[in-house]
Amino acid sequence: MPVKTPDAVAKRAQARAQAEALRESIRHHERQYYVLDQPEITDAEYDALVRQLQTVETEHPDLITPDSPTQRVGGQPREGIQKLPHSSPMLSLDNALHEGELRAFDNRVRELLGGTPFRYVAELKMDGLSMATRYSGGLLQKAITRGNGSIGEDVTENARTIRSLPLRTGRVEPFEVRGEVVMNRQSFERLNLEREERELSRFANPRNAAAGSLRLLEPSVTASRRLDYYAYFLLDEAGRPIFESHWESLEWLSGHGFKVNPKRKLCADIEEALAFCREWEGEREGLPYEIDGVVIKVDSVPQQVQLGFTAKAPRWAIAFKYAARQVETEVTGILVQVGRTGALTPVAVLAPRVVSGVTVSRATLHNEDEIARLGLQIGDTVIVERSGDVIPRVVRVKMQGTYRVPFQMPTECPVCGGRVVREEGESASRCINVNCPARLKESIRHYASRGVMSIDGLGDSIIDQLVDSGLVSSVADLYALKADQIANLERMGPKSAANIIQNIDRSRFMPLPRVISALGIRFVGQRTAELLADHFGSMDAVSGATVDQLMEVQEVGPKVAVSVNAFFREPQNCELVERLKKAGLMFDHLVRRRAGGPLTGITFVLTGTMPTLKREEAKFRIEAAGGKVAAAVSKKTNFVVAGEDAGSKLDKARALDIPVIGEAELIAMLPEIS
Ligand code: IVH
Repeated sequence: MPVKTPDAVAKRAQARAQAEALRESIRHHERQYYVLDQPEITDAEYDALVRQLQTVETEHPDLITPDSPTQRVGGQPREGIQKLPHSSPMLSLDNALHEGELRAFDNRVRELLGGTPFRYVAELKMDGLSMATRYSGGLLQKAITRGNGSIGEDVTENARTIRSLPLRTGRVEPFEVRGEVVMNRQSFERLNLEREERELSRFANPRNAAAGSLRLLEPSVTASRRLDYYAYFLLDEAGRPIFESHWESLEWLSGHGFKVNPKRKLCADIEEALAFCREWEGEREGLPYEIDGVVIKVDSVPQQVQLGFTAKAPRWAIAFKYAARQVETEVTGILVQVGRTGALTPVAVLAPRVVSGVTVSRATLHNEDEIARLGLQIGDTVIVERSGDVIPRVVRVKMQGTYRVPFQMPTECPVCGGRVVREEGESASRCINVNCPARLKESIRHYASRGVMSIDGLGDSIIDQLVDSGLVSSVADLYALKADQIANLERMGPKSAANIIQNIDRSRFMPLPRVISALGIRFVGQRTAELLADHFGSMDAVSGATVDQLMEVQEVGPKVAVSVNAFFREPQNCELVERLKKAGLMFDHLVRRRAGGPLTGITFVLTGTMPTLKREEAKFRIEAAGGKVAAAVSKKTNFVVAGEDAGSKLDKARALDIPVIGEAELIAMLPEIS
């Protein structure tokens, strides 16, 4: 046994204090970011705090506590599915499909309450899955899915990875929270894109994606899915409400670290509740998550008890459901698009219909197998759904057409006439001509897209013209373009041409993971690109890696490793990578903060929109020049950069007497892009 010298004892005490201070600070920032959506520090600063805590905990593993923020993903993979009973049944709600049904519900409530006054609470009905979480001794103990309402699945380790779910709270007595696990639209899009790139099937809607992600056996994968948890019930150990008013419960939850949807209303009568329903029906598309209606509950718990339950639902609550975002329409044709990997995607051409305010005239059919699964032929009437996704999908065939034409995958590429091949075990048919213009156009589109190299202004029509005119035959050619070449294209002028050139130039500052994902390597999306960049540290190291070395990367299996290795063995691709390197792209990872850059030691706070630079790039370029970007104005801020519609940060800057500059002045401070 090691001897505990006084020195070692003092060191340990110091480490304990340091770990606790770091945990406090991390919890505070997690709450600001994940629960309140009001970050005070940058992601990099947050990551640095977590790393510091990890270092202390690695040196002193006995100091790790179960509620430490580092323990969110600490759980072991689940062995299998464990069932657990609920403290009281998790019921569902009766639905009201129109105003009349809501008024009928209100009449019933009023009658049963015999004329005593009461109030309603209206909340958004988020489209996810419900989950109960149990706390005792101030710590999260169990998380259980709804299951059949009486018995659910133990998903504790997965739920711990949800950042908006507190691992500890101020209340020591046991209690239970019920709420909704949701995946927001952005995470849903990201996940589906990633899955498409890895040639996995897409999730049909955010609810399925949330459910699938929560029930995985591997909690570290759940963590990467970015789920959210919104609380809507507070109960005691036996599953009974703690407070006498539902509104009060929501207030308590929101004051104790839980995320409670702020879009809620205490209503004096059904008219106010109806107004709430109408208000959000009009604005649902603008919300970052999907909702499918509004839940209306009688506020007073004694009145809830008085109203009681039917066999399956409470009499004191109802779900006002919005109209489904499905329509019936006819498939008038099926066209075939060629993607950047040469994959041919069949797309249904539809008789146009309006679905929740958007005209839908196309729906993806993914591949031949999907068409077979649907049993779809041209001329059929189908049900089309928009759910969280940008691209609508065909749910099922409603009625076969009188004149139906079966779809046949072309044997020649519709764009270049090249041979189309469907390999054994693959769902996609591909054009095998590597120089197919459709493939080139698609790879440029992918390269320029938001979230990849984010080259604004390089839209479809320009890409088509650039490729068709022969100006661009590889993405690397973009960096050699001159403004007048673009200005001569159709619907282009000198001003927009200059803009595009500037945006292309700026893409040189995109970090390495973006560059890796921009290459369009099969099965490599943003997440895999990040893992590769983190592991290898540079493009050269990634491109030189053997299949075995690639498989050492977390989450990279043989399929991905072989694909990455094969990509960099292809002479055409090597040439592309070489040319991109010469164009000055970021081939090294984490060179963001270049010590000694002209902005070293200077802290900026950005506020408002920046028409030229955009936030993301401004931040990146400040950091690349050695400067720092903080999320909130403090005495340590050197400059506040105020864009258009600058908010409260500007007032704070003025109050603290901190110099405020505009975007143009910031650009002048940044080093020239070479
Ligand atoms: S209350 C007995 N409130 O909608 C009370 N549910 O059928 C049942 N949901 O299973 C739940 N947001 O998954 C309630 N603010 C909210 C909700 C909500 C979404 C879901 C929940 C429930 C279903 C209702």
